[in-house]
Amino acid sequence: MSIVEINNLFFEYKDTSTEDSFSLTLNQLEIKEGYFTSLIGPNGCGKSTILKLISKILYPQKGRIKFSGVDISEIPYKEYAKLIAYVPQSTYPYFPFSVFEIVMMGRTPYLGMLSFENSIDKKIVEEAMDILEISHLKLKGINEISGGEAQRVYIARALAQKPKMILLDEPNSHLDIEHQIQIFELLAKLKREENLTILSVSHDLNLVGIFSEKVFLMNHGQLIMHGNTSEVLTEKNIEDIFNVKVKILPSGKSDLYNILINPV
Ligand SMILES: Nc1ncnc2c1ncn2[C@@H]1O[C@H](COP(=O)(O)OP(=O)(O)OP(=O)(O)O)[C@@H](O)[C@H]1O
Ligand SMILES: [Mg+2]
Repeated sequence: MSIVEINNLFFEYKDTSTEDSFSLTLNQLEIKEGYFTSLIGPNGCGKSTILKLISKILYPQKGRIKFSGVDISEIPYKEYAKLIAYVPQSTYPYFPFSVFEIVMMGRTPYLGMLSFENSIDKKIVEEAMDILEISHLKLKGINEISGGEAQRVYIARALAQKPKMILLDEPNSHLDIEHQIQIFELLAKLKREENLTILSVSHDLNLVGIFSEKVFLMNHGQLIMHGNTSEVLTEKNIEDIFNVKVKILPSGKSDLYNILINPV
């Protein structure tokens, strides 16, 4: 069953000069519920733009996006935030909130008009911080921690939202190899145990190969191919789209995290 369905979508950044304007066209795209899907493609091909369209940060000029069959333009933001959590590519904090406060922001969609967070919200926030191993940082300002720690804070905020689907834009870009694997394993576990749907943008094709079940391959604002990971992540496709010759090696045991792709 598909959780997100995109039909005949056209999007263009408006205030750009006509020469460099970027447009995105997606005739049909379906994200299956309960799957780990990766969105890959070269810099500037439109990956972050798709995540922003699905999260209602940007609006398409044409076409529609449906979540569980409902046009997302008809779902109020507060309701939508209970369904979808978005972890942006980079976050530039403008105000030095504490780690605890930022993770607590994930509970905002569940709070009433004037109500404050209750013990359930606090418990969910503590749990999310524990899972991401950031509890010891909870009183620190977001500007006083490392880039990788901040990335884990934003993932914890997304988990505290208790969404049905999580969109992650390069969640591993600042993480060391241990934390990269840890985050992907955590997502895979939430998928298995809580039927969380994951859409992750990543440039790390090894991790994509190990963890995703479905892959969308994009280039120049268009979807080139989609399907099961082994069908899309092929030597030919990678060479065609990324202009790099690669060799895909047998993965062996997945818990060994063998390198699957080596430049040749
Ligand atoms: N706010 C904006 N206004 C105008 N153009 C934009 C804006 N944001 C992005 N673009 C342009 O749209 C294109 C797609 O951007 P997008 O961020 O979706 O790429 P991406 O696939 O996520 O790339 P990367 O791998 O570098 O993160 C790029 O050419 C970019 O310069
Ligand atoms: Mg991007």
